Amino acid sequence: MSLEQISLIKPDDWHLHLRDGEALKTTVPHTARTFSRAIVMPNLLPPVTTVAAAMDYRERILAAVPGGISFRPLMTLYLTDNLATDEIDRLAESSEVVAVKYYPAGATTNSENGVTDIKHVMPTLERMAELNVPLLIHGEVTDPEIDIFDREKHFIEQVLAPLRSHLPELKTVLEHITTKDSVQYVSSENENIAATLTVHHLLHNRNDLLAGGVRPHFYCLPILKRSSHQEALIAAAISGNEKFFLGTDSAPHARSLKETACGCAGIYTAPAALELYAEVFEQHGALDKLENFASVFGPRFYGLETNSETISLTRQSWEMPDQYQLADDVVIPLRAGEAVSWQLDQST
Ligand code: DOR
Ligand code: ZN
Repeated sequence: MSLEQISLIKPDDWHLHLRDGEALKTTVPHTARTFSRAIVMPNLLPPVTTVAAAMDYRERILAAVPGGISFRPLMTLYLTDNLATDEIDRLAESSEVVAVKYYPAGATTNSENGVTDIKHVMPTLERMAELNVPLLIHGEVTDPEIDIFDREKHFIEQVLAPLRSHLPELKTVLEHITTKDSVQYVSSENENIAATLTVHHLLHNRNDLLAGGVRPHFYCLPILKRSSHQEALIAAAISGNEKFFLGTDSAPHARSLKETACGCAGIYTAPAALELYAEVFEQHGALDKLENFASVFGPRFYGLETNSETISLTRQSWEMPDQYQLADDVVIPLRAGEAVSWQLDQST
């Protein structure tokens, strides 16, 4: 492995928002060019709450995959207070719908139908544990009294730790973790819990969002934290601990919905996600740890094979476009108009 080029087993994205309709023409090619599989979030309007709806959504995604590329969307269901345990049984029989997403009601984009109290979904979670169906968690409390920078920590204490004491066998992914508290919690728990790390939380901290002006394209949830948390996330990513793996949480919103008085949460990283992770790993002298993080630990946790293809990145600077078309608007990607230092080799 030379320093100018790295090859790795083709990676997967274990947390992704593709949206629906015309937007798929933008989002699907951006992800499918790099990633072999992706866990697709169900927070559409209305949310994806049945296996049948997830399979229809999957067809719409597949219709947007460019010719000659193979891409497998791994679908998820949106947990509501009323999701029937029958639906979990159907999910367990499906090879393409693979997990259930827990949004606390009101925590983030399109979470209005999420869980209002974990007590309401306990029978569903118990059934998931029995059938070995993974639970993917947006780990933030929604209590308006709790400071937005502390919501993840409180979620661990108030919701996740009690849940895991009750169901330690439930396969759980704490998604897009943003704090050293989450790193410590996940590290200290049994093998049934893992966490995904986004590239924006590795590259940025809250100064990038707020210092010198409010930058709406750095606004996401969970919100960027202080640099000491960022450092803990980087340490986890490059540690070689198999509990921590890649999940971009790439979440496009139209420019008009970001640059406004009350902007949406979400950062669009798909156009250069792997390249940007490579920057982080390189900056910390850990390029040799990228393959396990991006391509091995995720499938291992989900009980899937690693991909058989490989891809290569070359150290060659290129400029991220200022914007991409997104349905009838545009989306501003992370790094818009700035240099990205690694480039995906298109011939692999
Ligand atoms: O920033 C975010 N955007 N966080 C989420 O949890 C949801 C996502 C979205 O769907 O836009
Ligand atoms: Zn997300």
